[in-house]
Amino acid sequence: MKSFATRIVDWQRLHGRHNLPWQQSRDPYRIWLSEIMLQQTQVATVIRYYERFLARFPDVTSLAGATVDEVLALWSGLGYYSRARNLHAAARQIVAAHAGNFPQTAAGLMQLPGIGRSTAAAVAALAYGERRAILDGNVKRVLARHAGVAGWPGDKRIETELWRCAESRLPERNLAAYTQGMMDLGAQVCTRSQPDCARCPVAGDCVARSENRVGDLPTPRPKRTLPERQTRMLVLVDRGELLLEKRPARGIWGGLWSLPELDASTDCARHCRQRWGYDVETQQALPRLTHGFTHFRLRIQPVRLQLAPRTTTPPGHVWLPFDDALDAPLPAPVRRLLLPLAPGAGAP
Ligand code: ADE
Repeated sequence: MKSFATRIVDWQRLHGRHNLPWQQSRDPYRIWLSEIMLQQTQVATVIRYYERFLARFPDVTSLAGATVDEVLALWSGLGYYSRARNLHAAARQIVAAHAGNFPQTAAGLMQLPGIGRSTAAAVAALAYGERRAILDGNVKRVLARHAGVAGWPGDKRIETELWRCAESRLPERNLAAYTQGMMDLGAQVCTRSQPDCARCPVAGDCVARSENRVGDLPTPRPKRTLPERQTRMLVLVDRGELLLEKRPARGIWGGLWSLPELDASTDCARHCRQRWGYDVETQQALPRLTHGFTHFRLRIQPVRLQLAPRTTTPPGHVWLPFDDALDAPLPAPVRRLLLPLAPGAGAP
């Protein structure tokens, strides 16, 4: 049997993806941008954002020259906005400390904000052919199955074991095709719930397959009960517009536009009057929703407040028609709760 890596490379050439926009160049800037966008977002969604982002920021210098708000605006809708903030900070670092030249090694890339070990390796392998292992979610799944590694991959010990598996399978040459092949195999064949082992080039020596454990690996995250926090989000409405508030740069949802929040015990109408000088005409509780963070769950009670016509906009706030508000960089649950309120959705 040919080596694992040879089978992956051969398979990638015949059956892998070759026409994705970021595969059309070896420009590390373009590859880096794609890897960051693809960290938490599907290929099909990324493509549009990627092309629009590159049209506005074709190179690292133009990105470094932008404001973080411009970058966040182009990221709007992709979510996980710390990626955009880190991208911008990294571009500034490359311009300031490296005269605009991209670091040429994975080790150099890892010094930049937002670039971890796997992303650095992916960029270095795809752009420079450096011999580095990647280990993103897809590759963890492929390796956990092929090597028969049980245990949740988020566990440090299991992750270390998977890094060992990843490194021991690396080829000497063809690092770009191999790296892309591992990603493609995980995304297209060795999928979480419907793996297609008949099409897999490494099924012949896959431990999970031979032991009939494909459905059990990788081991899912252990169930745990997270602490809960509660908040109310105020949807202040006046003549078809709603009020958004800019979050502080640091902390949860830093720099995003969000809804004003209020604890459960304070009277909404009094708060609106005291804080902004707004008079509430009607008040309506909307369906609750829950948002999961890594360390806690946030239970959100949205409240729609119809105001008497207002004359002022407080600093750090903006009044926007619903449709424009949905185009702003919003936290995911805020977008989720506003979507059914937009005029096209039958309200308000
Ligand atoms: N996911 C992460 N990186 C990718 C890439 N280069 N191509 C396709 N999907 C990916």
